[in-house]
Amino acid sequence: MDEPLLRIVDVWKSYEDLQVLKGVSFELAERDVKVIFGPSGSGKSTLLRCINMLNPPDSGEIYLRGDNITAPNVDLNAIRTRIGMVFQHFNLFAHLKAIDNVSIGLRRVKGLEKQEARRKALEALNRVRLAEWADHYPAQLSGGQQQRVGIARALAMEPDVILFDEPTSALDPELIGEVLQAMLDIAKAGTTMVVVTHEMGFARAVASEMIFLDDGVVIERGTPEHFSVSPKSKRVKRFLNQLDVLYGSHEKLLKLSEEEEGK
Ligand SMILES: Nc1ncnc2c1ncn2[C@@H]1O[C@H](COP(=O)(O)OP(=O)(O)OP(=O)(O)O)[C@@H](O)[C@H]1O
Ligand SMILES: [Mg+2]
Repeated sequence: MDEPLLRIVDVWKSYEDLQVLKGVSFELAERDVKVIFGPSGSGKSTLLRCINMLNPPDSGEIYLRGDNITAPNVDLNAIRTRIGMVFQHFNLFAHLKAIDNVSIGLRRVKGLEKQEARRKALEALNRVRLAEWADHYPAQLSGGQQQRVGIARALAMEPDVILFDEPTSALDPELIGEVLQAMLDIAKAGTTMVVVTHEMGFARAVASEMIFLDDGVVIERGTPEHFSVSPKSKRVKRFLNQLDVLYGSHEKLLKLSEEEEGK
C-alpha cells in the first residue's frame, strides 16, 4: 500500500495538567481534503499546531510522506516549509504590500531571487483572484481579501499540505463566500488540505472525510454525507443541530457562488 501523505499516529498533548489531545490518529492521502470540527476547546487548534510542530506532541508520531517529523533529530525549519498554515486572524505583515506578504517567505525561507519570488507570488495571488490587488497594503483590503492573501502566501511555498484553522470564522458573513470559493478552487486543483471549519457546505463540496473531535478524542468520523444523513453519536447530533442555527446562512452563500461559477 502507498504511504499516505500525512499520517498522525496516537497523538497526545497536554498543557501543564490539562490533557488536550488524547490519542488522535488519522491519515490523509495526497490531494485529499480532511475537515476537522467540534466544540470550542476540543483541541482542534492544538492538533494543527502539533501537525506543523509549532507545538510538538507529548507522544505519538506524525509522518509526512513517510518522514517521521516528530523524531528528535528532525530539521524543523525544513519540515515547516513543507506544511503551510492559514490562520483565523490572517497574520499578515501590516507594513508589507500583499505581494510582499506572499513573496517574503519565498525569499527568506526558500532563498529565491527577488524577480522569481515576485513571479511566484503573483501567480499565487492570481489563483485566489487577487492579482490586481498585489500592491495594496492589508489595511486597504477587506477581511476576505486579506484572508485570500493568507491563502496565497501558503500556496506560494508549494507545501505538501496546507492546514487551515477556522479561516472564515473571523469574517463578516458577506465575506465568507469569497474565501470558501478560493479554498474550493485550490482544493479542486489538487491541494492537500486539513481544514478546521464548521462550514458544512464547503465540507460537502470537497472533503473526503470529516472528523468530529470532542474533548481531545475523535468521537466519530465519516463522509460529509454520513454526518448530514446519519450521524451516530448524541454529542455529534447535538452539535450539528446547534450549527444549523448558527451557520445555515453561510451555506446559502457558498451555493450562490457555486451557481455563479456555473453560469
Ligand atoms: N498555550 C496554551 N496553554 C494552556 N492551555 C492552552 C493553550 N492553548 C490551548 N489551551 C487550552 O487547550 C484546550 C484546547 O484548546 P484549542 O485551542 O486547541 O481548542 P479549539 O478546539 O481550537 O477551540 P476553538 O474552537 O475555540 O478554537 C482549551 O481548553 C484551551 O484553553
Ligand atoms: Mg481553535
